[in-house]
Amino acid sequence: MDTDLDRNAGMKVFTSRQGDIYLGNVGDGLQKAIRSLEPSLVFILADDDTAQHCVPLVESLADTAIPPIVIASGDQHKTIDSCETIWASLVESGADRESLILNVGGGMICDLGGFTASCYQRGIRFAHIPTSLLAMADAAMGGKTGVNFGGYKNYIGRFENPAFIWTDPTFLRTLPRQETLDGLAEIVKHAIIGSHGLWETISTFDSPESMEWYQLLELNIPVKLHISDADPFEKGRRKTLNFGHTIGHALESHFLHSTEPLSHGQAVTLGMLAETKLAHLTGLLGKEDFKSIIDLILRLLSPCEVTLPTIDALRPWLQGDKKKSGGSVGYSLPDSIGNCRWDIKVEETLVRESLDWVNQVRKG
Ligand SMILES: NC(=O)c1ccc[n+]([C@@H]2O[C@H](COP(=O)([O-])OP(=O)(O)OC[C@H]3O[C@@H](n4cnc5c(N)ncnc54)[C@H](O)[C@@H]3O)[C@@H](O)[C@H]2O)c1
Repeated sequence: MDTDLDRNAGMKVFTSRQGDIYLGNVGDGLQKAIRSLEPSLVFILADDDTAQHCVPLVESLADTAIPPIVIASGDQHKTIDSCETIWASLVESGADRESLILNVGGGMICDLGGFTASCYQRGIRFAHIPTSLLAMADAAMGGKTGVNFGGYKNYIGRFENPAFIWTDPTFLRTLPRQETLDGLAEIVKHAIIGSHGLWETISTFDSPESMEWYQLLELNIPVKLHISDADPFEKGRRKTLNFGHTIGHALESHFLHSTEPLSHGQAVTLGMLAETKLAHLTGLLGKEDFKSIIDLILRLLSPCEVTLPTIDALRPWLQGDKKKSGGSVGYSLPDSIGNCRWDIKVEETLVRESLDWVNQVRKG
């Protein structure tokens, strides 16, 4: 994807309870950040794609002679089996309590590497070097780590913060277009739930191809940090991050075993369309903001064409979310652009109506 990445924007540091987040070129200080931790050994974890496209930019800065640990790409490999592979490599190379793991990859590698490190010898340090837009904008921050289990996403995991995060938009040069759209969906979500300023900036762009990622990430990072700092264990406000994800996760699970599974971002985009409609139907979201949100999603996120299943087909997956929250399904719904409520209970007939509407609106 062609982007304005060459702008010499300098390096920016965001400090938070979750540790420092650096935004800038890895060449401008990654080595120093690693050395300041005085690790006994440095390990690099990557998947097949990031080993090829991203590790070469990091390897020489990491001061390590140990070959990268490489896991097959794809969310189907975010499993306990992959953890075992990583733990075995760590043991074989003599990793001890003072070792450091650099997670060089998208959300899959950040989640997997963070969880694996947090369990090895009761926990060793790790740092995220997110390489996908989704990981830069969302997954690397907030302290959630984990793996998929028993057909459910992220069912086994821990809250554990990295020693630091290094976000370098240069990596986005090799990211495939759909992966870019997946990450953009999370940035749009952050704007809707928590930042009118971010919303206005996104709205100025005509297409994902023209976006300035440094500028957008600079505005996006504080939204995720602020919400997850305020509520690290998801007891209240952090649930707003689930906007688009209740129906989105159900769709992702439903299509998981179809011939064309949805990516996380495609599912979230469809989930945001449905849940924006739901917010309007419940009377929370006014007509003007409703229309602006739908227009922007249709214009910039290219929602995929798949026909959404009925509520009857989705119910078991929505119930999976319900089990996690210990009651009925609670939705996170915006009441205006830049503000979101959580734990909203809605009538199933309105969910049905929203799903039907999403099937119609993409044809229009
Ligand atoms: N922890 C959290 O708070 C949180 C939040 C959102 C999502 N997630 C998790 O994140 C995962 C999704 O993340 P994702 O969309 O980054 O998927 P991913 O990590 O599977 O990456 C998608 C693909 O893009 C490739 N890729 C990544 N960076 C690249 C680059 N610079 N150049 C070329 N290819 C590159 C990857 O190798 C992979 O093949 C899911 O497991 C999801 O559950 C976690």
